[in-house]
Amino acid sequence: MHKDIKEIMFTESELRGLVDSVAERINADYGDEEIIAVVVLKGSLIFSADLIRKLNMNVRVDFMQASSYGAGTESSGTIKIKKDIENDVRGKNVLIIEDIIDSGRTLSLLKQEMKNRGAASVKIATLLSKPSRHVVKVETEYIGAEIPDEFVVGYGLDLAEKYRNLPYIGVLKPEVYA
Ligand code: IMP
Ligand code: MG
Repeated sequence: MHKDIKEIMFTESELRGLVDSVAERINADYGDEEIIAVVVLKGSLIFSADLIRKLNMNVRVDFMQASSYGAGTESSGTIKIKKDIENDVRGKNVLIIEDIIDSGRTLSLLKQEMKNRGAASVKIATLLSKPSRHVVKVETEYIGAEIPDEFVVGYGLDLAEKYRNLPYIGVLKPEVYA
């Protein structure tokens, strides 16, 4: 285990189980209908790579990156699209793939944006969600697991761009923040 990690929340094999369960639900819902998978960079990189491989329909893959600008310490949570997708989503089924929902602001904006562009449907698949932290309500169709209010890293999730490469998801030691 990495020296900065206090405990493992999901092992590699548990993560495989979460991915399988999300993929099963998506496969059951969409059948043969093509989707555009909108991968939200960078945190969902590894989750989406694993998830997409388990999907049975035709999948177009596209990427988006959002950045949040907090005003002061109490984040006012203004979100901006930093990198946009290349596909025209008009009339298409969009599946947004995210690593974790915290306040819900990022996904609320991205979901609305896809709807505004005329997507036929917009659904969300997230590996993790922290219900106690939600500020904005976003309908989330596929959730791998709900977790308590702890900062987790690994399997794509970072703290200041570190720890994305850990194969498991772990809770950071408090002293790492300091
Ligand atoms: P939201 O807009 O507040 O829901 O923010 C979601 C984004 O915050 C995610 O895409 C992550 O990049 C980041 N985030 C939230 N919680 C965590 C965490 O525990 N570990 C790593 N990143 C997190
Ligand atoms: Mg992120």
